[in-house]
Amino acid sequence: MKINRQPPDIAELKNLMRFERPHLDRRAARLDKAADIYDLRAIAKRRTPKAAFDYVDGAAMREVSLAETREAFTKARLLPRMLSGAVEVDTSVDIAGGTSALPFGIAPTGFTRFMHAEGEDAGAAAARDAGIPFALSTMGTRSVEETAKVSGRGRRWFQLYLWKDRAASLDLVQRAWDAGYDALIVTVDTPVAGQRLRDTRNGMRIPPRLTAGTVVDAAWRPEWWFNFLTTEPVTFASLTSTTGTLGELVNGMFDPSLNYGDLAWIREQWPGTLIVKGIVNPADARTAYELGADAIQVSSHGGRQLDQVVNPLQALEKIRAELGADADIIYDSGIMSGNDIVIALALGADFVMVGRAYLYGLMAGGREGVDKAIELLAGQVSNTLQLLGCSSVADLKRSHVIAPWDGDKNVGGHA
Ligand code: GLV
Repeated sequence: MKINRQPPDIAELKNLMRFERPHLDRRAARLDKAADIYDLRAIAKRRTPKAAFDYVDGAAMREVSLAETREAFTKARLLPRMLSGAVEVDTSVDIAGGTSALPFGIAPTGFTRFMHAEGEDAGAAAARDAGIPFALSTMGTRSVEETAKVSGRGRRWFQLYLWKDRAASLDLVQRAWDAGYDALIVTVDTPVAGQRLRDTRNGMRIPPRLTAGTVVDAAWRPEWWFNFLTTEPVTFASLTSTTGTLGELVNGMFDPSLNYGDLAWIREQWPGTLIVKGIVNPADARTAYELGADAIQVSSHGGRQLDQVVNPLQALEKIRAELGADADIIYDSGIMSGNDIVIALALGADFVMVGRAYLYGLMAGGREGVDKAIELLAGQVSNTLQLLGCSSVADLKRSHVIAPWDGDKNVGGHA
């Protein structure tokens, strides 16, 4: 897609290497061979500087939560019903006051233009064309207005980290409303930044510092560097402080004193749908719901905040039991395939958000890479539903999944 270029920022680097202009036909050939999100991840890893790739791929501390969530998905088993006459599969769902053509949307992610120069523009355009919601992060590298312009007729959500400066938060929220964002996602699991050890080890910061390592990296990943040096500098479009490490940025701006009173306050301010993200405790889900949240997003932040937190997939089931059948529940964390999406839906989610899976596509091939990630996940969701004997997402039942914590108690029956 078309991106505005401008003169390189880190001028010295230019003299040290020969740049390769991106070739769109080579991009297409590369993406054609990707059969799943893991393949996109492998391409992304080859083509993206380590600091950027690891920021996405990594999690907090020893990354126990991320590994455990992945393991829970891998160990879950699907129990199909045969001969159910599921000729066609309707993958559309109603979520948060609107529809989505697929039961998943794009999660809010920070630093996105650092992953690939097409950044949020690629995600918002791909989501629009797939008929699914795109969520822009407070830590995003495009403003609410810029993303609204690209998203156009698409559904867009804005993710808010409440700041110390309430007037500034309110201004941002008002701008999002004026720019046609129909849902506000308030993230509540980030009073302080999680300890992302890969970022510490890689010296991840915005903008990157020019070191010998940077130059070597650039020699191996010329397209990324060409894009990085010839497009607008990566800055946080919604934050006033725009340089530093993630920890410095988060801890400098966000407010650990936040409490349920602040959630009630934001509920009063925001006229649209309110999603509260980052909940794993049924008691918090209940309180947020009673304070007027329209949807609860069960999430461990992809294992990026509190390591060794409870398994969010198991928490999802408990929160569904707490809130009952009618509440809107969204799930994110650890989704890498259509099977994972189906498992989360069967365990109680109405909708799923994908962060890393989308970013692997973005890093592998910009806009076309995001299209590919969505296409792969959509195809897998549809195929899995059909193999389970479901003609729609609504046909999915808890009895289609045997969760690792079920033991033998859900291995069949008449449900
Ligand atoms: C930001 O939300 C992050 O997880 O890095």
